[in-house]
Amino acid sequence: MAIYRRLDPERLPHHVAIIMDGNGRWAGKRSLKRFLGHQQGAESVQYVVETASRIGLPWLTLYAFSLENNLRRPKSEVNFLMRLLKMYLNNNVRRMNDNNVRIQYIGRTDDLPDEVRERMQWAAEATQRNTGTVLTLALNYGARSELMDAFRGLCAEVQSGQLKLNDVTEQDIQRHLYTAHMPDPDLLIRTSGEMRISNYLLWQIAYTEIYVTSRLWPDFRGIHMLEAIEDYQRRERRYGGLADGTESDDVASLPANQLVG
Ligand code: FPP
Repeated sequence: MAIYRRLDPERLPHHVAIIMDGNGRWAGKRSLKRFLGHQQGAESVQYVVETASRIGLPWLTLYAFSLENNLRRPKSEVNFLMRLLKMYLNNNVRRMNDNNVRIQYIGRTDDLPDEVRERMQWAAEATQRNTGTVLTLALNYGARSELMDAFRGLCAEVQSGQLKLNDVTEQDIQRHLYTAHMPDPDLLIRTSGEMRISNYLLWQIAYTEIYVTSRLWPDFRGIHMLEAIEDYQRRERRYGGLADGTESDDVASLPANQLVG
């Protein structure tokens, strides 16, 4: 792939997170039922996972099912998404093993149906020895609930005297997140053009580069992730600092009346 050759191997992101949106619109544009959009979306997942593994991306995190999806969508659609997830796991664990991909999950997964949790655990165990890309599916996930769970854990440590309130650091919060063992995403991709974060990884994306494409998720392929990575590589990450080569003003030498209040 020409685009792959254009990427700078020294500056590949370590962690790409994706908000997969637009399954319903994809189906609507073709006068199909929404569930066919989700089914096509599950195909895109596997294409993107394989590309991630081919380029040696260490972490890929996909927003597959939010707490809000669970609460606000018709029961029939939620049930279909659950069936699709089970089917996806059944059909793809072998390919994950061929591609050295390990699967894990973040979210309130305890609240998912038993037979889905059983499949999820099976897939995690079947791929646990793989050392390539870690595919994280966010399932029944909401960032505010994640933060609430983290704060509860942290408060319990303070209450028990394990940690002093004034000693709490950002790292203490970080180690209570579902993603405690993961680096923060370098790049967040959202499909189907919406300029929203939708309660995804709110803590973790503090310095993440955001890329929004109007392409609907069922039309998204590995090459489109590589385009996003190419765009990411053109950006300069500043983490709140100055652009490279910018000289700081010598404020101390300015007369006081030139200081803007
Ligand atoms: C948004 O489309 C998509 C979701 C509800 C989550 C993503 C789900 C999949 C890609 C399906 C399968 C996933 C796995 C891992 C097997 P939407 O229905 O909100 O689209 P719309 O905004 O156009 O209505």
